[in-house]
Amino acid sequence: MGAAESTQAFDVEAVRAQFPILRSLVHGRVPLHYLDNAATSQVPDAVLAAMRRHDETHRANVKRGVHFLAEAATDAYDAARGKVARYLNARADREVIFTSGTTGAINLVAHAFGATLKPGDEVVVSGLEHHSNLVPWQLLRDRSGIRLKFLPVTDEGRIDTGALDRVVSERCKLIAVTHVSNVTGAITDVPLIVRAARTVGARVLLDGAQRASHGPVDVQGLGVDFYAISGHKMFGPTGIGALWGRAEILSTLPPFLGGGEMIRTVTLEKSTWADIPARFEAGTPAITQAVGLGAAIDWHASVDNAAATIHTAKLAERVLDGLGAVGGKKRLDGGRLSAGRVRVIGPQTMERRFPVIAFAVDGAHPHDICQILDGHGVALRGGHHCAQPFHESRNLTGTTRASLALYNNAADVDALLTGLDDALGKLT
Ligand SMILES: Cc1ncc(COP(=O)(O)O)c(C=O)c1O
Repeated sequence: MGAAESTQAFDVEAVRAQFPILRSLVHGRVPLHYLDNAATSQVPDAVLAAMRRHDETHRANVKRGVHFLAEAATDAYDAARGKVARYLNARADREVIFTSGTTGAINLVAHAFGATLKPGDEVVVSGLEHHSNLVPWQLLRDRSGIRLKFLPVTDEGRIDTGALDRVVSERCKLIAVTHVSNVTGAITDVPLIVRAARTVGARVLLDGAQRASHGPVDVQGLGVDFYAISGHKMFGPTGIGALWGRAEILSTLPPFLGGGEMIRTVTLEKSTWADIPARFEAGTPAITQAVGLGAAIDWHASVDNAAATIHTAKLAERVLDGLGAVGGKKRLDGGRLSAGRVRVIGPQTMERRFPVIAFAVDGAHPHDICQILDGHGVALRGGHHCAQPFHESRNLTGTTRASLALYNNAADVDALLTGLDDALGKLT
C-alpha cells in the first residue's frame, strides 16, 4: 500500500483531511507522523467547530439559570451525556457521570464505592495497570485498611486470568482492571473477570481509556459495573471524560466531592444529596468540553468503524513485521550484528489486541529513540507510560510506544520504520 493510498473500504485520506493538525510540519520542515494516540488523539474540524459554536451561541452555566442561554447550555450538556450513554450502551443517561477523564472517574469510584468498604475487604487490580488504576486503590488502602491484591501478567503481556481462582477470595469486593493495556495493547478477557467477581459477589470496574477510542462499547454486554473513559483519547477535547456505573449501584453511593449542584437540601448543620448523576458532579462542570466529547462521538459515528478497525489493524501488522526487520538491513549492509535487537513488549500478532505497540531496543534508551524519531516528524512516547510496576517486572526502565489511530496511514508506518533504522544506526 502506497503512502497516499487507502484500502477500498476505508478512505484514510478523506479522514485525515478532517484533522487540521495532520497538515502541520514538525520543526517547520518535516511532515507530522502522529503515533502517540494512546496518550492523546487529535481532534477533527467537527469537534473544534462544535465547541466554538457552543461558546459563541450557548455559553452559560448549566442547571442554575432560567434564562434562554442557561437553558440552551443545560440542553447541550444533557445532550452530550445522552451521546456518551448511547456510545457505551448504558441503560439510562443518568448512569453517565462527567469527570475530568479516566483518572477522575476511577478516583470517584475509589472514594464513593471505597467509602462502603471495611478494613479487610479486598480490591483486586493487576500488574498491568496504568497508575490511574493503581494509585487511587493504594490511597484507599492507606486510608481505610482494605487489602489490595494483584493479578499477575502473562509472558505475552496479558492479565493472567488463570490466577483468578487464587487471587479472588470471598473478601473481594471489587476487581478493577484495564480493558485494553496502554503498554501491550492486549485486550483483557472480561467474561472471565466478571465470572470470578460474580462468584464472590464482587463488582467489576474496567478502565476503558484505551478501548473507547476504537469504537462504541457495550457496557451491558460486558456485564461490568463501572466503566471509565477519557474524551481526549477519543478525538475529543482534554479535561472531559466519564464514569459509567449501574444506576442501582451509583444511587446507593455517597458523594465524592461536595459543592454546588450535588445537593438536595443544605442547612448549616447538614446536607442531603441530589440523585445521580448530579450527586457526583459538584461545581461547574466542563460544559464546552462535554459538548466537544458529544461532537467527537457524533463524528466517530460518521466513520465506518469496522473498516477503520481493519485499516488500523493492517497498519499495526506492518509495524509489528517492520519492527522484526528493523536493523536487519544494517546487518546485511554493514555486517553489524543488529537484527533482533527490537523486542515487542506484548502480543506479537494483532490477535486479541489493539494497535498500541511498545518495544524495547537493547542498548538504546527510549528517550533517545523518541528524540531521533522526532527529527523524522514521528511522534512516539518513550518511558514507562504510567505503568512503572509492569516495566519493572520486565526489568525495563522504559519502552518506546507507537500507538495508531484511524487517521494513520502507510506513510506514518514507513516514517516510523525508517526513523527507527536511523536511530538504531546512531545509538547502537
Ligand atoms: C489505560 C489508561 N488508564 C488511564 C489513563 C489515564 O487517563 P487520563 O489521563 O485521561 O485520566 C490512561 C492514559 O494514558 C490510560 O492509558
